[in-house]
Amino acid sequence: MSILIKKFRIKSFKEERPAIELRDVTISYGTRQIVEKLNFSIQKSEISGLLGPNGAGKSSIYHSIIGLIKPTYGKIFIDDTDVTNVPTHLRCSKFGISWVPQYGGSWSDLSVYDNLMAIAELHISHKEERLNKINNLIRKFELQNVIKLKSKFLSGGQVRKLTLAMAMVKNTKILILDEPFAALDPQSVRMIQQIIVSLQMFDRISVTISDHSSRDLLGCVDSAMVLSEGKIVAKGTPQELVKDTKAIEAYFGEGYKI
Ligand SMILES: Nc1ncnc2c1ncn2[C@@H]1O[C@H](COP(=O)(O)OP(=O)(O)O)[C@@H](O)[C@H]1O
Ligand SMILES: [Mg+2]
Repeated sequence: MSILIKKFRIKSFKEERPAIELRDVTISYGTRQIVEKLNFSIQKSEISGLLGPNGAGKSSIYHSIIGLIKPTYGKIFIDDTDVTNVPTHLRCSKFGISWVPQYGGSWSDLSVYDNLMAIAELHISHKEERLNKINNLIRKFELQNVIKLKSKFLSGGQVRKLTLAMAMVKNTKILILDEPFAALDPQSVRMIQQIIVSLQMFDRISVTISDHSSRDLLGCVDSAMVLSEGKIVAKGTPQELVKDTKAIEAYFGEGYKI
């Protein structure tokens, strides 16, 4: 399944410049340190993965990138600009960051259409443009059959499609997806993987995805890193990563194959 997705990958347009860069980022809650002096970058137009067991700090890292929490030490750069003290709304509007959270992400009592409209009203002032955008997203994410359904009645895969579509309402350049495959059946995983790859190919956006389990993530990323005990212990392409002794020791375990 995952091999099929990789076959369609076009890699020539990727730029060797960081979309996001973390320099010496330490995150603590109170006196408890979660990650320590992290240094990594997410390259432009790349799909990159962040792997690590539950509780490793993946969501915390994403929260610091979008500005929901402030690192206790270190700096965060977006497009080579230091955004460590830039508020979330400016990271979104000026730097084109969008985030799909691990849990929730839509208004459960609003219909699919109204969820999209609520976001569109925030970002697109021109009415016709707004309606066009919503209709395009409904087509692209194949939500036509559920537009009138409240989001609380959607399946797991449909909710993910809706929250991804909501993240694409504005002019997104960098998409952060926190555990997009969690609790999905294999067919829905495949559908979300294809959507992610198509966003990279056709919209040329940079994507970072986290997952506590590895197979679904490794099936659609260009590169990934493994977070363990507060540090990045390995980085590389999926093929490199599964052979990396530190990644095997800290995360995959012996005998893991892709
Ligand atoms: N707001 C918070 N306050 C205190 N501790 C937190 C908070 N958010 C997360 N944590 C703790 O930080 C650790 C990392 O959490 P998290 O970033 O959610 O990890 P992951 O996404 O990899 O599962 C966990 O031990 C979690 O309990
Ligand atoms: Mg998490």
